[in-house]
Amino acid sequence: MATQTQFKKNILCIGAGYVGGPTMAVIALKCPEYKVTVVDINKDRIAAWQSDTLPIYEPGLLDVVKQVRGKNLFFSTEIDKNIRESEVIFVSVNTPTKTFGEGAGKAADLQYWEKTARDIIKASDSDKIIIEKSTLPVRTAQAMATILNANEKGIHFEVLSNPEFLAEGTAIKDLYEPDRVLIGSRENDKGIRARDQIVDIYAHWVPKDKIVTSNVWSAELTKLAANAFLAQRISSINTISALCEKTEANVNEVSRAIGMDARIGNRFLKASVGFGGSCFKKDILNLVYICETYGLTEVARYWESVVAINEYQERRFVQNMSRMMFNTVARKRIAVFGFAFKADTGDTRESPAIHVVRQLIDERAHVVVTDPEALPNARHDLKDVLDKVTFEEDPYKAAAGAHAIAVVTEWELYRSLDYKKIFAAMEKPAFMFDGRGIVDHQKLYEIGFNVFPIGKMPLKHV
Ligand code: NAD
Ligand code: UGA
Repeated sequence: MATQTQFKKNILCIGAGYVGGPTMAVIALKCPEYKVTVVDINKDRIAAWQSDTLPIYEPGLLDVVKQVRGKNLFFSTEIDKNIRESEVIFVSVNTPTKTFGEGAGKAADLQYWEKTARDIIKASDSDKIIIEKSTLPVRTAQAMATILNANEKGIHFEVLSNPEFLAEGTAIKDLYEPDRVLIGSRENDKGIRARDQIVDIYAHWVPKDKIVTSNVWSAELTKLAANAFLAQRISSINTISALCEKTEANVNEVSRAIGMDARIGNRFLKASVGFGGSCFKKDILNLVYICETYGLTEVARYWESVVAINEYQERRFVQNMSRMMFNTVARKRIAVFGFAFKADTGDTRESPAIHVVRQLIDERAHVVVTDPEALPNARHDLKDVLDKVTFEEDPYKAAAGAHAIAVVTEWELYRSLDYKKIFAAMEKPAFMFDGRGIVDHQKLYEIGFNVFPIGKMPLKHV
């Protein structure tokens, strides 16, 4: 068993979730001279990180974890001991939307963050660098520094912001080759010395010109702004998709052509049933709340509309299904292909599938959900309506006897299914509602499906 004296530095991460686990695994791999420990209050999660059935599905992650676990990467529930032994502490706990009190439904719930700050004070007996890895409202670092440095032990805590930009499903690639790493600090001696230590960690594998430094407030706000800009592009193209469906324009052709303008760029212009994921909606609503508290009403309304368009797009998808299937889906079997919020993850937080399935259930459809990775989370998300939904691992079985298929997650496997076989086993007329633009519409139409893509004219036999 490795002892702490073998290592040059002890790095701790509090929060072993989608960010803490993969980020620390990559830091451990790239910095073998550092001891990296990840702690969490959730014992089951830590036990899963210690096993070969990791608590999250992320391509390439198990391979990285296996290379370093037990060497310089450790997972533990001993929070106090590990706080005491660390010089650098990343805090990567969840920061969900507040569900109670002032700001409910918009503001970030900072209770987990504050609890962590208090745990750090209690357990520490030496100076430490505390790094905000979680996404937080701009100026949180000030509140944290105030709480932390109010300790009566004479310990100094330097609070930095190092927001994470990884996307689920591509986390390992994003961590290996980030577009940039952002480190915000106070711009005085202590702040800059602490910042340099964090730059040194990333400089093990990230080119220096991609490590960007700034003041703490810019770093905090950049993270919220980056997610808002990404989500805004999706909502923008989704508004255009609605117009395309009325005008015989094709949203894929429009997005390809506008994306070729170097000033616009071609990424994040894929029209869809809507964006999901734990962060886009949460972070935009947090931005909206912050703007409101500063009296920036117009700015708040602008960003709020990005979320409103997303909800409209999800609603529109199901309304369209109902209208096209002779104005009723009641008692019809509908196969929902995909429940994860995007491909290559089992994560279903804020997945458009949740809204689609619930709306279909409200319309009294019988829904069958299939997904290669997300069925355990899907069962949890739909636990109050389990009598109205069936879960089926095999997409062929899910579609058998169905009146319609709705593709809600862009899993690669849905491109290459044997749709002739699927069509043969479905009720007729058979419908395909492609919420992700991934199936071959012309081919499915020729098989006999009535095909309804997002942002394109339908291909109909009825
Ligand atoms: P998560 O819910 O998967 O993980 C958070 C973990 O923190 C949980 O396991 C929870 O048990 C643990 N925790 C909470 N309070 C704790 C405490 N006091 N002590 C120890 N552990 C505690 O969340 P996540 O998806 O990893 O997100 C974490 C943060 O990173 C959020 O602020 C999120 O906005 C941000 N972020 C997430 C992503 C992403 O892709 N999921 C990407 C970038 C940034
Ligand atoms: C997003 C950001 O991309 C990350 O940079 C950020 O770190 C992260 O949020 C976070 O803060 O949590 P993530 O939500 O994991 O990452 O996944 P994305 O690839 O951004 O996809 C989000 C949603 O948008 C998915 O539902 C996806 O299907 C949808 N999407 C994406 C579209 O509908 N169209 C697109 O063109 C792109």
